[in-house]
Amino acid sequence: MARKLIAGNWKMNGSLSFASELVGGLLSRLEQNSTAADFAVCPPAALLGQVTGLAKGTALAVVGQDCHANISGAHTGDTSAELLKDLGCQYVLTGHSERRTDHGEGNADVQAKSSAAIKAGLIPIICIGETEGQRVSGDTLKVVEQQVRESLPVEATSTNVVLAYEPVWAIGTGKTATPDDVAEVHNFIRGLLDRHFDEATDGKLKILYGGSVKPSNAAELLGVSNVDGALVGGASLKVEDFWAIGVR
Ligand code: PGA
Repeated sequence: MARKLIAGNWKMNGSLSFASELVGGLLSRLEQNSTAADFAVCPPAALLGQVTGLAKGTALAVVGQDCHANISGAHTGDTSAELLKDLGCQYVLTGHSERRTDHGEGNADVQAKSSAAIKAGLIPIICIGETEGQRVSGDTLKVVEQQVRESLPVEATSTNVVLAYEPVWAIGTGKTATPDDVAEVHNFIRGLLDRHFDEATDGKLKILYGGSVKPSNAAELLGVSNVDGALVGGASLKVEDFWAIGVR
């Protein structure tokens, strides 16, 4: 069975001391245990150099939270995919709902950023998911389909991209989708991907679930078919909780 990917999105949280403590705690657990899951952390950009330094040569992967669509240039405050790669990141989040909301990023932006990531040798973790209003009006699958189609870049294959389904109403709210809701959307996405890629995907493209994942619901959610891992926000800020989500 393929290994699950458990990625901890720190968002705009953390400090030098927080990062060394949390990553230190994770690394000692990873050294002492063999796990059935792969772990990754997504620190804010300013902490990436420190975290990639600590994680170098270990099983812990490091993820940028965003990248620019261009290779370099006059884009004050932005980070290029090539710099993330140079720092030692393996992945980058693209299209997180907070970027879509706070920075007005649409599917075309997400597609361009994901393309830049792949060209730089990073795996984009492309985030998609419906709002509460879209779910209530019965548009979940329609929205998700459009996001998948419009956000996947032409360079995407089943192994150089990860998707993260994160219902916006479940992010940071404590509300979690039921296993049935998650199964419906993940199975739907798997069907879309099988049709999208010419190659037989064999279920290889990882589809993560995100939205208030915590130790008490992780086993149930990670047990749903076509859930290949989790994107964890709040619960990734405590090493015991984050570890417990991936090691069950
Ligand atoms: P949450 O965040 O686990 O705090 O809901 C998930 C995310 O935004 O990736």
